[in-house]
Amino acid sequence: MQFIEFDTIDSTNTYLKDNWEQLEDLTFVSTLEQTAGRGRNQRKWLSPKGENMMFSVLIKDRDLLNRYRYLSMLSALTVIDALEHFVVKDLMIKWPNDVYVRDRKICGILLEGVSREQLECVIIGIGVNVNQKVFTDNYLNEPTSVIREIGQVTDLNEFRTAVYWKMIGNLQLLKEGHDFHQEIMKHDYLKGRKVYAEINGEKAEVEVTGINEDCSLGIIWQNRKMNIDSGEITFHL
Ligand code: BTN
Repeated sequence: MQFIEFDTIDSTNTYLKDNWEQLEDLTFVSTLEQTAGRGRNQRKWLSPKGENMMFSVLIKDRDLLNRYRYLSMLSALTVIDALEHFVVKDLMIKWPNDVYVRDRKICGILLEGVSREQLECVIIGIGVNVNQKVFTDNYLNEPTSVIREIGQVTDLNEFRTAVYWKMIGNLQLLKEGHDFHQEIMKHDYLKGRKVYAEINGEKAEVEVTGINEDCSLGIIWQNRKMNIDSGEITFHL
């Protein structure tokens, strides 16, 4: 395990992508500010300096890489564990990569892999809104943060440490073959909802049956049951 802390960096995910070969498994990189923070689908991840938690974890362990499809849900559960510890309530996983409080996003997760002949490493990048009160961007649905939920400032170091140790614990459990499905189902935000989805370029209304054991998402589309892997679908609630 190795901790690297920056004041400012382009992106903690980019740092690990550029340096993964020299770094050990479970290297944990955090920063107070990103100048080119990245979100899913080529979006930017914006966060005022020093207000929120931004970090990335490097996974090189072969057993974990073999279970890479669980890493996204496991990361979301880990953040939920930490947020519950700081008394945030009503936490949900919005498949495939977000943590919500009721209908508002509090955390985004970006998983990236580096492959040559095989998958060499996975980088889990996590951004949690902690002490940000004001969100100025044009959001369809304004995000929330820990401070908005509990009404008090949270020590970022304490929060980061909590997430780190919960992450180490959960990764160890995953390595040992622990099944997180029951836990995941308790927080399934999309289950039972009708959502607009873009499946391979085609827009349609689908009904979500829920997150499956293999972490794919079960949906009903045109009376057909289907399982979707992340990346194949975009949602509009
Ligand atoms: C999303 O919701 O689109 C995913 C956001 C992921 C943001 C985190 S912040 C730390 C890490 N570094 C990045 O550039 N992105 C991730």
